Amino acid sequence: MILVTGATGHFGRLTINHLLAKGAHPKEITALARNVEKANDLRKLGIKIVIADFDDIAALKNALTGVDKLLLVSAVDLSKRYLQHENVIEAAIAAKVKHIIYTSGARKSDDPNSSLYAFMEAHIKTEQLLYTSGLDYTILRNGLYMELIPAFIGDVISSKTIYLPAQTGEVAVALRSEMAEAAASVLLSGGHEKKTYNLVNTKAYSYNDVAGTIADITNVHIKYVSPTKEDFLDALLKAGISIPQEYVNILIGQANGEADLVSKDLVKLLGREPTILKSYLAEQYAI
Ligand SMILES: NC(=O)c1ccc[n+]([C@@H]2O[C@H](COP(=O)([O-])OP(=O)(O)OC[C@H]3O[C@@H](n4cnc5c(N)ncnc54)[C@H](OP(=O)(O)O)[C@@H]3O)[C@@H](O)[C@H]2O)c1
Repeated sequence: MILVTGATGHFGRLTINHLLAKGAHPKEITALARNVEKANDLRKLGIKIVIADFDDIAALKNALTGVDKLLLVSAVDLSKRYLQHENVIEAAIAAKVKHIIYTSGARKSDDPNSSLYAFMEAHIKTEQLLYTSGLDYTILRNGLYMELIPAFIGDVISSKTIYLPAQTGEVAVALRSEMAEAAASVLLSGGHEKKTYNLVNTKAYSYNDVAGTIADITNVHIKYVSPTKEDFLDALLKAGISIPQEYVNILIGQANGEADLVSKDLVKLLGREPTILKSYLAEQYAI
């Protein structure tokens, strides 16, 4: 039995779609959710639904009983993410789960002084817990979702400007849907025990590349302006926009050269080259 956490969220749901598309029978899949209603469409597909909150170890132990492989999609609440992962891993050990596949974060270093550390800390600690858990584990270090780029850059066709503090730093964005496809492959095949995969693209891009590509697609000239972190925060304040510091740090990490890790791991798990930024933007910005 395969269990997917976060089944009512983007990544978990996409993984379940890929499991089914790859031939898994709905009866082989259990979806963990905390909200019964949100899981109704999965139930209609014949998938077993178990209800547990990451804060509730007893409910997690019940939910994980009889599970062989568990996809732990990282929890979203940064303030208690690690504690929730600890709960899931403790419950998995008690329920005798054999193998945990964990969606971690792609990074070049574990340096606590790096800009990305605030995002990575819970991932680093969860990986360490898995190494000593006695369970089989596979770490999927997800890079930045390509699907986030349109939200990051805003309505550039109107503004004709990308205004982000990422300087000329690059990031090897890959599609969340393809990371989920890779997760489904790992869940359905063997030989991934104790492996770590970097689910990032084979090429990294700067926001100059993003601006140039959208300009080529739309024939609208897009300027890329990269302020300092201070000027960027000031501009957000003046515009009345509030973004958590951790999110700004993603862009500062990119500016510092912390996000340009590339890898062929996604190629191996997908059995093809991952979608490149140009193809994705062409779909998004086609007139
Ligand atoms: N790599 C990237 O670029 C990137 C970007 C954004 C996010 N992420 C991270 O990647 C992970 C998955 O992303 P996503 O897009 O799938 O997020 P999402 O759409 O927000 O889904 C999160 C899922 O986790 C469930 N969940 C949250 N807290 C829970 C709790 N206490 N107990 C049980 N279930 C809980 C949610 O349930 P409900 O449906 O009930 O809320 C939902 O099913 C998250 O950790 C997210 O922070 C990564």
